[in-house]
Amino acid sequence: MAFTVFQSALFSNPSLFSRRRTFNFCIQFSSFSTASAFPSDKFQLHKKWRQPVSSVLELGGVKIAKDEIVRDDPTNNVPDSIFSKLGMQLHRRDQHPLGILKNAIYDYFDTNYPKKFDKFDDLCPIVSTIANFDDVLVPADHVSRSYNDTYYVDSETVLRCHTSAHQAELLRGGHTHFLVTGDVYRRDSIDSTHYPVFHQMEGVRVFTPVDWEASGNDATSYAAEDLKKCLEGLARHLFGGVEMRWIDTYFPFTNPSFELEIYFQDGWLEVLGCGVTEQEILKRSGRVDNVAWAFGLGLERLAMVLFDIPDIRLFWSNDERFTSQFSKGQLGIKFKPFSKYPPCYKDMSFWISDSFTENNLCEVVRGIAGDLVEEVKLIDNFTNKKGMTSHCYRIAYRSMERSLTDEEINDLQWRVREQVETKLRVVLR
Ligand code: DAH
Repeated sequence: MAFTVFQSALFSNPSLFSRRRTFNFCIQFSSFSTASAFPSDKFQLHKKWRQPVSSVLELGGVKIAKDEIVRDDPTNNVPDSIFSKLGMQLHRRDQHPLGILKNAIYDYFDTNYPKKFDKFDDLCPIVSTIANFDDVLVPADHVSRSYNDTYYVDSETVLRCHTSAHQAELLRGGHTHFLVTGDVYRRDSIDSTHYPVFHQMEGVRVFTPVDWEASGNDATSYAAEDLKKCLEGLARHLFGGVEMRWIDTYFPFTNPSFELEIYFQDGWLEVLGCGVTEQEILKRSGRVDNVAWAFGLGLERLAMVLFDIPDIRLFWSNDERFTSQFSKGQLGIKFKPFSKYPPCYKDMSFWISDSFTENNLCEVVRGIAGDLVEEVKLIDNFTNKKGMTSHCYRIAYRSMERSLTDEEINDLQWRVREQVETKLRVVLR
């Protein structure tokens, strides 16, 4: 794939939390309320195509039955396909690009801050809405809280949509230097750089007055300077001598907030979000006199660039032609595509209803085609004189492992059309 195309796609994927747009199960489920605050027909769509429930998953030593996570009620929007990803923990495999990258970042912190940072990569991804949103000051009306963007297990429990969900808990637990790596979950569009499960690493460092008093700097400037120095060093460790720039931005949890971009193969690439932790977060964790910095980075985005991996679905591939190309500790290896099978495009037009969202469409398509769907793209959109809006979507089907037969694709497309019509309440044209 031409790098420029790939790169512009990466640019279109800023953080859910930035202005530019991005339990312990571990807690009990008995508290969910069926008096729904959510438009019910939007969630009916998850009901009928669910498989019978059987499996049990072990997460961080806790056994969780599938029917606790994937349930037929309006407060739950977790499909089977997402349940099957829980517990895969790609970031804990030393031979996997995500594990190799995690370990390379660990090496940087171990070398520069020996024995300082506590590392967590096995925290339960099922968290309370309080941990995921309130504890990090995400406003009550923030888009990331919607059922359209986040997977809810019940009205008070979500699949974490960022590793920032663990910040407050770890601060309360007395940790002052830590790295949290984990799988995170977001309902999203479908293309080569978006997948509903991806991986992040969060870093936090807390300072006490003795740290900044001698510097002559105020606490916030001291933390911001230290943060930038640390992350510039990390970027050099991963990418070598690259050009970098800092962009001012907004996150609910930090002030000031920044994004780091690096100049890589002809373009600026957003690498991470970070900032000086909001004082309120520290105060609530009992650290009134302290300041802290925090950062969050997306492992797939970095790994796609570092290993030349052209499609985010490859991270989930068990094909030996993919997995055998990577080895423990080898960050510099470039992935050699083993072959590119032809894509097959199918268009679908329909009149949308008020409750239609692209994320819901993508969930239907993924539920049927799984990783055989490469892209779902809006190619036409108009409103007629009667005020009815029509969308035409082009679906690209492509396997990374084999050629698909016409029969197979026609069957998938037929099922997609059927379910789009029944579950999304749109009218096919
Ligand atoms: N949680 C943010 C996201 O998922 C990333 C992030 C930005 C984490 C800034 C941080 C931070 O800790 O300070 O988009």
